[in-house]
Amino acid sequence: MEKEKLEGRPTVSLIPGDGIGPEICRAVRKVLRRAGAELDWEVVEIPPLEERGRREIEQLHERVVASVQKNRFGLKGPITTPVGSGHRSITVALRQDLGLYANLRPARTVAPRFSPCGEVDLVVVRENTEGLYSGIEHRVGEDFGESVKLISRSASERIIRFACEYALGNDREKVTAIHKANILKCSDGLFLDVFRQLEEEYPQLTLEEMIVDNAAMQLVTDPGQFDVLVAPNLYGDILSDLSAGLIGGLGLAPGGNIGEEFALFEAVHGSAPDIAGENKANPLALLFSSLMMLEELGQESVAERIDKAARAVLRSGKDLTPDLGGDGTTDGLARALSAQLEEVG
Ligand code: NAI
Repeated sequence: MEKEKLEGRPTVSLIPGDGIGPEICRAVRKVLRRAGAELDWEVVEIPPLEERGRREIEQLHERVVASVQKNRFGLKGPITTPVGSGHRSITVALRQDLGLYANLRPARTVAPRFSPCGEVDLVVVRENTEGLYSGIEHRVGEDFGESVKLISRSASERIIRFACEYALGNDREKVTAIHKANILKCSDGLFLDVFRQLEEEYPQLTLEEMIVDNAAMQLVTDPGQFDVLVAPNLYGDILSDLSAGLIGGLGLAPGGNIGEEFALFEAVHGSAPDIAGENKANPLALLFSSLMMLEELGQESVAERIDKAARAVLRSGKDLTPDLGGDGTTDGLARALSAQLEEVG
């Protein structure tokens, strides 16, 4: 998606989602308003899980797709997907149907005490439309199950090029392809072939490859060696949660789903049912996701100001939510962020 200066005040889709989604969205809206972000929201609410029949899901899906297609940019809270049975992930379907093929998930140390394994500054670029999330799966009788992992040359090339162009455009030097091509020779083998074929087009970059299990270990023992990682869908999903753990947890890990025409920003985390409704959720992951969106909307200076305020609050150690070792609340953290905005000017 081309970065652009938008004319006038943009309207952005806001999908609060469920679980902790509505609470953290409220906090983020408050901070953005206080910082003077120039945007209006078009809110698309979703029905609670227990009221979601097939028809409700279809209607919801259509409403979100239409809203993002109209506004081009969106901010999304998490949406619960029933585990083990029930309906398919609405989030995965949205990414596929809006052509949001790249899931960009940066992990940056915000304060040394939240990075127990050392300084981290890496970006996971996850393929977002195929792999094991193809949705093609079935039970074979009572005792077997089959889930199809799809890897295509075109989607692999698209995501690897995205990762390389992202690296070039953001002063990064290395792109590491994550795979399991020693075992999955047909699917990951193809992904790796494409990566190797593109190598000569990017002489400015160091291109490396790493088997996913080793990458999981190396991320913990030596995270500083990584710069940009590009991975098929499932590995990207898992390694970006792992990377969140390297910077203080899911409450700090932002993300963006990017396509040719549209972009939908959302935190790495899910709906956190264990703390939903308790005013304990950390809104910073969604706030940092919204800053990625503000940058795309050409409002870099507002994003920078909020980022500075957030880092100052994190460094101070005050008003932090329990995931960061504090005893603060979602609302309290939003208030502290708003107050800090006055300090950073
Ligand atoms: P989760 O990310 O919701 O929670 C994992 C752990 O991290 C929990 O202990 C939770 O309390 C904590 N956590 C997550 N976000 C936090 C925050 N902002 N502040 C403080 N603590 C936080 O992952 P889980 O439990 O695997 O999934 C729960 C539901 O979320 C599932 O239905 C899943 O499908 C859905 N999900 C949705 C996503 C989306 O809409 N993008 C992404 C990931 C999961």
